[in-house]
Amino acid sequence: MSVQCDSGKSVFITGASSGLGRQMAIEFSRRGYRLALTARRLDALQALQSELEKNGAGRVFVAALDVTDDAAVAQVLAEARAFCGALDIVVANAGIGHHGLIGKLPFAKVRDTISTNIIGFMATVDAAMQCFREQGHGQLVGISSVAAFRGMPATGAYGASKAAVTTYLEALRAETHGSGIVVTTLSPGYIDTPLNRGAKSRPFVIPVEQGGKLLVDLIERKVQCATVPRWPWALLARLLTVLPTALLARRK
Ligand SMILES: NC(=O)c1ccc[n+]([C@@H]2O[C@H](COP(=O)([O-])OP(=O)(O)OC[C@H]3O[C@@H](n4cnc5c(N)ncnc54)[C@H](OP(=O)(O)O)[C@@H]3O)[C@@H](O)[C@H]2O)c1
Repeated sequence: MSVQCDSGKSVFITGASSGLGRQMAIEFSRRGYRLALTARRLDALQALQSELEKNGAGRVFVAALDVTDDAAVAQVLAEARAFCGALDIVVANAGIGHHGLIGKLPFAKVRDTISTNIIGFMATVDAAMQCFREQGHGQLVGISSVAAFRGMPATGAYGASKAAVTTYLEALRAETHGSGIVVTTLSPGYIDTPLNRGAKSRPFVIPVEQGGKLLVDLIERKVQCATVPRWPWALLARLLTVLPTALLARRK
């Protein structure tokens, strides 16, 4: 795919076949962005591509990409850049979550969580930064989680992976301070997607359409860090950090 697409700012999204990535693609498209969409499920991406192009999005770049394959991440991002002319925004969104107590959750699932949410995330950031440094500009967006604020029972690997996302982007923000590169960390609470549909409880859950709009609003405002939605999560995230362990305790 080497044909250039039309005009406007461009956005590259990982994990665009479902949930937040898909909804952000729809929202960016409504706002006139050129889109480069990736995920492992090419059929789901192609269905989204047809829908967006039918609704006037211009030509949409789609490519199958497993973010745990770091060589493929660099290659696909370079192809997307060639297609779009430049990449203005890269959203490192792909992620998975597994539920289970440490030592009971099969370790293969812990490994998958770390591979996707940390290694895959860092591979995306790495490829994006090489591109942004060459271009002299760009906005890196990482999708963390309120789970990054406090380790919670049964989601240890997921919470640890999101804490890594937040900390890595803090380092990147300091490395790029004063340059043309912007770093945005977004930490959603519960937004209704397949990721959390099996959860027993989803406090303050919001619909995916609302979540996608809020995420893209914050990206356009180039915020450094935000919970999504801001309230009540900005407050709850701080409370979580000081809550006594006994109130979180759970052994089953
Ligand atoms: N929904 C929430 O409430 C919530 C809250 C906090 C944070 N988040 C974060 O938001 C992000 C998106 O989650 P979601 O809620 O939209 O979940 P989702 O609907 O399950 O979507 C996850 C996306 O990630 C992709 N993905 C998974 N593994 C991948 C891999 N190895 N390589 C490339 N793509 C991969 C999936 O596509 P394929 O299967 O096609 O590859 C899918 O498009 C995740 O990072 C998640 O941790 C979500």
